[in-house]
Amino acid sequence: MEQHFLSRHKYLLICLIPNIMILFGYYENYIKDQNGIILFKNVERADTAYTDLSKYLVDTKNCKIPDIDPLNSDVWPYYKKQDYVNCRTNDLLTYVDKIDDKVFLKIDYTLLDVYSLYPITCCYSNVTRGNGNDLDDDISFSDCREFQDCVEIFCDLVKVTCKTEYTEIYSNVHSIVRKNLETQTKRDSSSDFSVLLIGIDTMSQLNLIRTMPKTQRLLEKNGWVNLKGYNKIDDNTFPNLMAILSGMNLSQVMRICNPESNFLDGCDLIWKRFRQFDYVTAYAEDETKLNTFSYLMKGFNNTPTSFYFRPYFLAAETLTVVTQYLSSYCTGPETSGERILSLIKDFCTVFVDKLKFGLFWMNTFSHNNINTASGMDDVFENFLTDFMASPAAETTIVVFFSDHGFRFGKIRYTYSGWLEERLPFNYIWVPRPFQSKYPEAYKNLKVNANRLTTPYDLYMTLQDILHRSNNSYVIQPSLACPNCRSLFQRINEERSCDDASISQHLCTCMGHSPIDPNSKIVKKATFFALDKLKSTINSFHDGPSMCASYDLKHIISSGITDTFYNKKHESVNYLLIVFETFPKAVFEATVSVSYQNFIPLFTLQGIISRVDRYGNTSACVKDPILRKYCHCNGFYTTMKKTVDILFNN
Ligand SMILES: *[C@@H]1O[C@H](CO)[C@@H](O)[C@H](O)[C@H]1NC(C)=O
Ligand SMILES: *[C@@H]1O[C@H](CO)[C@@H](O)[C@H](O)[C@H]1NC(C)=O
Ligand SMILES: *[C@@H]1O[C@H](CO)[C@@H](O)[C@H](O)[C@H]1NC(C)=O
Ligand SMILES: *[C@@H]1O[C@H](CO)[C@@H](O)[C@H](O)[C@H]1NC(C)=O
Repeated sequence: MEQHFLSRHKYLLICLIPNIMILFGYYENYIKDQNGIILFKNVERADTAYTDLSKYLVDTKNCKIPDIDPLNSDVWPYYKKQDYVNCRTNDLLTYVDKIDDKVFLKIDYTLLDVYSLYPITCCYSNVTRGNGNDLDDDISFSDCREFQDCVEIFCDLVKVTCKTEYTEIYSNVHSIVRKNLETQTKRDSSSDFSVLLIGIDTMSQLNLIRTMPKTQRLLEKNGWVNLKGYNKIDDNTFPNLMAILSGMNLSQVMRICNPESNFLDGCDLIWKRFRQFDYVTAYAEDETKLNTFSYLMKGFNNTPTSFYFRPYFLAAETLTVVTQYLSSYCTGPETSGERILSLIKDFCTVFVDKLKFGLFWMNTFSHNNINTASGMDDVFENFLTDFMASPAAETTIVVFFSDHGFRFGKIRYTYSGWLEERLPFNYIWVPRPFQSKYPEAYKNLKVNANRLTTPYDLYMTLQDILHRSNNSYVIQPSLACPNCRSLFQRINEERSCDDASISQHLCTCMGHSPIDPNSKIVKKATFFALDKLKSTINSFHDGPSMCASYDLKHIISSGITDTFYNKKHESVNYLLIVFETFPKAVFEATVSVSYQNFIPLFTLQGIISRVDRYGNTSACVKDPILRKYCHCNGFYTTMKKTVDILFNN
């Protein structure tokens, strides 16, 4: 019977779609925003996300990634454009000026009247990175020394405060990018190429189109190569960035680098090799409590790059912080995101003639809400326009990208949410001189833009760039994906998720079609997944003692892939299931179904995703993976309201 059900036909599907719609509440005749405000009436286009599954972002033999409408009905209820939110009413009162190799902190006297009618005095402190046990979380401030309009600065980070007799009227921090002993010895960028990785956390391809349409059009118009099949390889930021920086997957990183108990200094990250081969290197990231290498991890003992901006953001967060959806959106008079963009500009300007490698990562306007990035569209349009007009554009390969799409919340229970979570945006800028020097490589990249790609490919690409600049650098295969190659080499037309080291659970190559979540086979598969979830929890040291045992509450939605035949010539389908448990948690799992003598055989594919916001319901356990799965014993649902607005990394 079940087998008959699985050999579905298109007409059957079309009959099922309305049921799913009713289930998800799409046949309500209006669409509300998050605050319950009615945006517009809607019935007719309710099924956009599902009806046209014949368009593909990638259309190769073993990979067909669905191309769906960015404004499909799944996302309408959540989509709302937001305006830019300014962190100040006046221009900045202080700024840093560089004259030859000297650096001055200056007060903009033309603004004094704007800031206050009373006389103002300003003082500055040197800020230095900690040196105790928590050195990656610590900064210290020298006494605040008064200065008149201008003072020469000798350190790389200062905090400035201005007051009238009565009150503080202005405070800011300035980070100074300047030449130093190390950078003197770095290589000139004569005929070789620099690399910048510029990232916005939690931004799918489709969400970029929705929230930053001007930026996206600018990228398309100016020949940035859009990796349409860029598929994440693991759940959250850390493993997806580590794949790029080290070529390892999470279990390898945990084994080899042991970041929970060790500093990451010993871990073989690609920026070390760039530094060794005489590139000036930099790493900056806003929202220090979520920083990729520090969230539930130890961070670095010695600064890992020539320029390391964590102390700068720690200092910025001591200013007045204005949060948006619990992100440190304003740190004092500047947005944290724009602080990152200014650092990129400084880095490119000061080291215009040097080879550079930089990772610049932004969390504060995109991590916790799918709409907040829309306020930054103009900012990015301007930033990228300036970049393309600058000398750096001729010498620098830029990867402008994200790590994954939205991971939590009701949008994740939908088809669009499923697809977007796995497909972060990724645009690559290839300078014209590179295109002419390596025409074949550039051509390959453009072909690969329409194939399945992964962070491991980027790891190989970075090494390729380094090797092209100094061929005594020896390229090492990615440990997690030994067959992955540089994106400047052509990817096999037959590449599958398996070939690219992407688990079926995260693979978008087969899409899926909705099926009735109450069907017998889905229920069986769900109980199977729930059992796997429980044994995963129990496999952790604290799991059995600290975490509640889950019961199935209901199955929220379910999808199925087309049938295919495995190596044993058995017919197989993948089922995607989203289910809710008691105590309340929502999970997403992929289970394969094959049959032996008409008995279904289930296998769990890859990880189980946690798709609701769990806040601190799992705060009783430390392990970052167990935190995703655990509901602490005794954590009652009366906490739910607070929990729902808390974020998770
Ligand atoms: C900051 O440090 C420099 C030396 O690195 C020193 O000359 C200067 O006086 C210090 N400023 C303050 C306010 O302590
Ligand atoms: C390439 O690297 C080797 C080994 O580090 C170094 O000796 C050599 O000077 C480098 N070549 C260039 C052009 O920098
Ligand atoms: C990591 O990669 C290794 C080698 O390819 C593989 O055996 C292992 O299953 C991978 N681990 C995960 C969590 O994907
Ligand atoms: C969870 O977070 C809330 C709000 O921040 C806090 O009041 C509460 O004490 C936390 N509970 C646990 C168990 O950590």
